[in-house]
Amino acid sequence: MLDIKLNLSTNKKEKPDPSKLSFGVYFTDNMFVMDYTEGKGWHDPRIEAYAPISLEPSAMVFHYAQESFEGLKAYRTADGTVQLFRPEKNAARMNKTHERMCIPQIPEEDFVQALKKLVEVEKDWVPSNEGTSLYLRPFVIATEPRLGVKPSDTYKFMIIASPVGAYYEEGINPVKIFVEDEYVRATPGGTGFIKCGGNYAASLASQVKAHDLGYSQVLWLDGVEHKYVEEVGSMNCFFKIDGTIYTAPTVGTVLPGITRMSCIELLEKWGYKVSTERLPIKDVMDAADDGKLEEVFGTGTAAVISPVGELRYEDRIAHINGGKIGEVTQKLYDTITGIQWGKIPDTMGWITKVD
Ligand code: COI
Repeated sequence: MLDIKLNLSTNKKEKPDPSKLSFGVYFTDNMFVMDYTEGKGWHDPRIEAYAPISLEPSAMVFHYAQESFEGLKAYRTADGTVQLFRPEKNAARMNKTHERMCIPQIPEEDFVQALKKLVEVEKDWVPSNEGTSLYLRPFVIATEPRLGVKPSDTYKFMIIASPVGAYYEEGINPVKIFVEDEYVRATPGGTGFIKCGGNYAASLASQVKAHDLGYSQVLWLDGVEHKYVEEVGSMNCFFKIDGTIYTAPTVGTVLPGITRMSCIELLEKWGYKVSTERLPIKDVMDAADDGKLEEVFGTGTAAVISPVGELRYEDRIAHINGGKIGEVTQKLYDTITGIQWGKIPDTMGWITKVD
């Protein structure tokens, strides 16, 4: 159990117009901070004013990107209470990231306690408009001032919070996706299965290319054969082909998304056939030509459930479901967001109440 000291901001910022929230632009008054020093462990957990932090230019995170991050949301229900969606899964995933990145483990109960306390302190910042939430961004950075390549001896664990609306400008309307066949995101043995900033830095050139071509996001293929579908820039991806729902296996190159996991659990409960066999992009495009590609959607904390209306792969274009949201996509969206916003009962045991 952490003894979290409160040294809260005395300056209350003006809150943004809840009807105009986009993603990750505004930050609340306070943030959680905890330090790590080799030999002493994690120490000095505190919530203090959201403000710039001071680091040496030689801090290792700047040079070798030794860092991790997570993303989850706090939701306001109709009765005014605030709740989190499966925060213990983020805690466990962050520790998986830490194993791979040689960052010390954070006890799962401390991670969840820190989140709950920050949300409790910032409760007034959790918006109540339809589709809005308070996005929470836990992250750890290597702070030791040193230029040699080795794991840092010191770290900072922080959680910042941001009131958000939809991640995509399109909202729940279908997005257009460009299938990347030149750059790769992840290779076996690499870091594709964890949440570290470097994965996203390496994706930017492709994202810029896709934007220039009029696409919102990139669908990554496997890094070895450039043949199998893996994940989209900020979400996992599902394909409904001739009744079966496919999503890439999380075998080392694909992020084990918590929304992905929740969708699989729901789909199986509803009796759908879900396959996590590797799926060749060629099969997806052929299925589209044959009229068998019924639905494509992405899943993620930020993106929630996002229908895909178009896929472009080399010179082939697949138009999906007449550019409309599919039946399964809509059902997943309604169920997952229904549980998150407390509109339907949480029969899956996914909700943690904050107050
Ligand atoms: C999330 O869905 O929470 C993410 O972290 C994806 C993205 C914003 C990087």
